[in-house]
Amino acid sequence: MELSPRLRSVAGLVPPGARFADVGTDHAYLPVWLLQQGIIEHALVSDLRPGPLDRARSTAARYGLAERMEFRLCDGLSGIAPAEADTIAIAGMGGETIAAILAAAPWVREQGCLLLLQPMSAQSALRPWLQRQGYRIEREHLSREGDTLYTALQVRAGFMEALTPAEQWAGRQSRETADPLRLEYLTRLEARAARAVTGLRRSTQASDAPRLEALEAVHRGLAKMREEWSTWQP
Ligand SMILES: C[S@@+](CC[C@H](N)C(=O)[O-])C[C@H]1O[C@@H](n2cnc3c(N)ncnc32)[C@H](O)[C@@H]1O
Repeated sequence: MELSPRLRSVAGLVPPGARFADVGTDHAYLPVWLLQQGIIEHALVSDLRPGPLDRARSTAARYGLAERMEFRLCDGLSGIAPAEADTIAIAGMGGETIAAILAAAPWVREQGCLLLLQPMSAQSALRPWLQRQGYRIEREHLSREGDTLYTALQVRAGFMEALTPAEQWAGRQSRETADPLRLEYLTRLEARAARAVTGLRRSTQASDAPRLEALEAVHRGLAKMREEWSTWQP
């Protein structure tokens, strides 16, 4: 099976032999691919709705892997016991949904599970939420599908310095990170922040002033991060 670049970037973060759970699995492409590649021996998959879970069962049957998968109809991690997983993927959902799923399952942090999160939206809210909840973003991996860039976060319980406003948008960068899509990611976010600033500058409502100030800080920070990133490149 061919995985999409987005799911491939999540798959690349799964350690061999992981006790793997895929929350909100839908077609179960990610766990089926990991099983096919021999990266994992067994997979637990869950979904909130019966339709997607049936699709997961169909994919598993099509590839002859149903015996090595368990299917749970549940909200988030509510149907998964702490002893059953040490690596948990939550991909293809909004950042708020991912945060709600993790908030309802504090055992994930207490047990030191490896989390592979691939938010489709609200990344700038999810990153600081993770930091406040005692999670550390160990690395981020970008992928491209068509014209869209996606980010996958590798996360574990641990201390992380509070993120600056620009880091909340773009994630923390370091000289050691080699990501060929990072410059484009920063450039796009900077342009998005600039558009938001321009829009808010037109506003005549006094209540928009603090938001404008915050967005200007994001915009300045992103420009600095982009310059810093460029100086690091060979
Ligand atoms: C867009 S699909 C993503 C499928 C796959 N994870 C991927 O990244 O391609 C989102 C799936 O998450 C499921 N979902 C949404 N909220 C959920 C929750 N709270 N708990 C479990 N599954 C959820 C939906 O039913 C849907 O099947």
